[in-house]
Amino acid sequence: MLIVLLGKPGSGKGTQAVMLSEKTGLPHLSSGAILRDEIRERTPFGLRIEEYVLRGEIGPQELITDVVFSYIERKRYASGFILDGFPRTIYQAEELDEQYRPARCVLIDVPDDLIVDRISQRLTCAGCGAIYNTVFHPPSAPGVCDSCGGELAQRSDDNDEAIRKRLEIFRKDVQPVIDRYRDANRLITIDGIATPSEVFTALKNATMNR
Ligand code: AP5
Ligand code: MG
Repeated sequence: MLIVLLGKPGSGKGTQAVMLSEKTGLPHLSSGAILRDEIRERTPFGLRIEEYVLRGEIGPQELITDVVFSYIERKRYASGFILDGFPRTIYQAEELDEQYRPARCVLIDVPDDLIVDRISQRLTCAGCGAIYNTVFHPPSAPGVCDSCGGELAQRSDDNDEAIRKRLEIFRKDVQPVIDRYRDANRLITIDGIATPSEVFTALKNATMNR
């Protein structure tokens, strides 16, 4: 079972993927988190893509696709997985279809005016990647991750310029991917405006009750 989550930056892909992973037991694979790990570990690939991620750009998509697939293959996800943030281009969608062909993809739909607030309120754990929100989902102790005790910080691509770029890329590169899935009757759109638990109910209905 492969579940693909698509959506604008800050639409809640990561938040929902974590909840769905807990519910289904399927592992959660975020392409953005993979790239951030590679950057943090200063691997040759991480050094190559760092500038692109900081600017909110796509970067060398063939190479990124190979790395994401190598993570999937290394883990041998026998019963399936949840993909968050991949595919982001038609090339990646074609490669994904060739290898794994997701039956359905879920778009978490959120208007632009919610994005900047949500992202500027986000704190991410440097240790385990857990996602918080200073308004909707604050940590119990300021600056400290509830799950692992790690330090919470803003992501380095969560600045105005990079957010603008990420939204531009969404319209230019991700929207054609969404259109492709919609045209093939493989897209389910859920409303991402409501609370995380309400969005999760819609996501469960879209993925588990079919
Ligand atoms: P990636 O990490 O995927 O970033 P993104 O797509 O911009 O999405 P975000 O992670 O910012 O948002 P999200 O939808 O996960 O929202 P979240 O749940 O955190 O990619 C980063 C970069 O890596 C890209 O820009 C690119 O450079 C590169 N990259 C990644 N994939 C790539 C690929 N396939 N090919 C090439 N390059 C790639 O929620 C956001 C905030 O809102 C949180 O504070 C959360 O608590 C809050 N929140 C969530 N849901 C709700 C709700 N329902 N109500 C209120 N608040 C909510
Ligand atoms: Mg995310």
